[in-house]
Amino acid sequence: MADKLIIFDTTLRDGEQSPGASMTRDEKLRIARQLERLKVDVIEAGFAASSNGDFDAVQLIANSIKDSTICSLSRANDRDISRAAEALKGANRARIHTFIATSPLHMEKKLRMTPDQVLEQARQSVRFARNLVEDIEFSPEDGYRSDLDFLCRVLEVVIDEGATTINVPDTVGYAIPELYGQFIKTLRERIPNSDKAIWSVHCHNDLGMAVANSLAGVKIGGARQVECTVNGLGERAGNCSLEEVVMAVKTRQDYFGLDLSIDTRHILAASRMVSQTTGFVVQPNKAVVGANAFAHASGIHQDGVLKARDTYEIMRAEDVGWTANKIVLGKLSGRNAFKQRLQELGVQLDSEGEINAAFARFKELADRKSEIFDEDILALVSDESVGHDHDIYNFVSLSQRSETGEQPFARVVFVMDGKEVTGSSIGNGPVDASLKAIEVHAKSGAEMVLYSVNAISGSTESQGEVTVRLQNSGRVVNGVGADPDIVVASAKAYLSALNKLSNKADRVAAQG
Ligand code: KIV
Ligand code: ZN
Repeated sequence: MADKLIIFDTTLRDGEQSPGASMTRDEKLRIARQLERLKVDVIEAGFAASSNGDFDAVQLIANSIKDSTICSLSRANDRDISRAAEALKGANRARIHTFIATSPLHMEKKLRMTPDQVLEQARQSVRFARNLVEDIEFSPEDGYRSDLDFLCRVLEVVIDEGATTINVPDTVGYAIPELYGQFIKTLRERIPNSDKAIWSVHCHNDLGMAVANSLAGVKIGGARQVECTVNGLGERAGNCSLEEVVMAVKTRQDYFGLDLSIDTRHILAASRMVSQTTGFVVQPNKAVVGANAFAHASGIHQDGVLKARDTYEIMRAEDVGWTANKIVLGKLSGRNAFKQRLQELGVQLDSEGEINAAFARFKELADRKSEIFDEDILALVSDESVGHDHDIYNFVSLSQRSETGEQPFARVVFVMDGKEVTGSSIGNGPVDASLKAIEVHAKSGAEMVLYSVNAISGSTESQGEVTVRLQNSGRVVNGVGADPDIVVASAKAYLSALNKLSNKADRVAAQG
């Protein structure tokens, strides 16, 4: 039997560290459920000690997900490790992932510690963690830029103390595939007890090589765990992308000779869920999950694919969850059909109340749009465009007027702090006027750093999905809204971003 490659997903931790990608507890649970459906081996659910919100999310996921190992990140200190262990108490299988920086630059400038102090702290932390949980992962942060001899000493010590997985991060995305693969190989050869741990790779994408580096770490270095995120979500240029690394290993089984437990048919749904939840749109030419990934536009390609698929296709679209765009439901569809379609799409709503609310929104949409596609349903159930009890702002209605040569005008009715208010404004265009109308009352003073519109199912009849990124007092948030009317979608996205801005959760950064 071939070796197994462990897939460790860190969308909910390293992915979420991307400015604007923060998620609520319920959004995280929904994504964790999708990761479980994907049969991800390890889900890094968060960084329990970083904030009460993160603690709650890790705890909820640990209590709810039963098939994957649930992991919490933790700095190398007793307090963080105890918090992680506490949040993970309900898990079937729990892992603590503790880390400390080992590169000269990080030790001196960030930690202000000597190498010997770092080594001692790593030793004590793994010893402490091992008394609480059996499955311990240790990461030397900025490991790839660390001194090789020093890194060997640290890793030997933590394996002696019982670390079961050793993860070697390329924290700043500096590595080159061959060199990174060789680096892992050298560590494994030089460290006398290296065979007592599973070796793992964790690559950032600053030079666009996170997937290539991870695969080299596996092939050349002998790593048997890859850390990755859905859509490659993550700070700066992101992390190694789950869908790309998984499909590379699966498609080139002849070369890698490794088994995976991933059920790849759920990849696309995971990609859409993460994109709709965070507002990070997937580029059309993105491998595996981009809208063009399986589209053959040129005549020669189309002709070839029609004669024999494998002339131009190395993967089957169905294997990663693509199905032909089909009309799934319409105005006359009942609650049961809707519920069943949600199940087929891998969406689990927690209560009958949630299903009823989603069904009511579906009916409302079906009144305005005769053909409802899977993408519409996924947008409909994504938390973003839906009012929640705890939200400060909720959309009610909008009217706007625009005519060539006239200044556009908008009036927006929305709920603010439990009271219905109406704001009116003129603007450069109808969207601008609508958002200014909201600001008449909201007075957030937030700066807009991104505005994007995407047609959910590809035609002008489709719903528009709008992402708005706002920045205020050093915080960056994304709001997403969907509606057949893109001005309404924009207002919803703006209100959703304002809700996130008003939800002040202070958290400690993992790499600060
Ligand atoms: O990139 C990194 O170094 C990390 C560690 C905290 C594992 O994410
Ligand atoms: Zn990272």
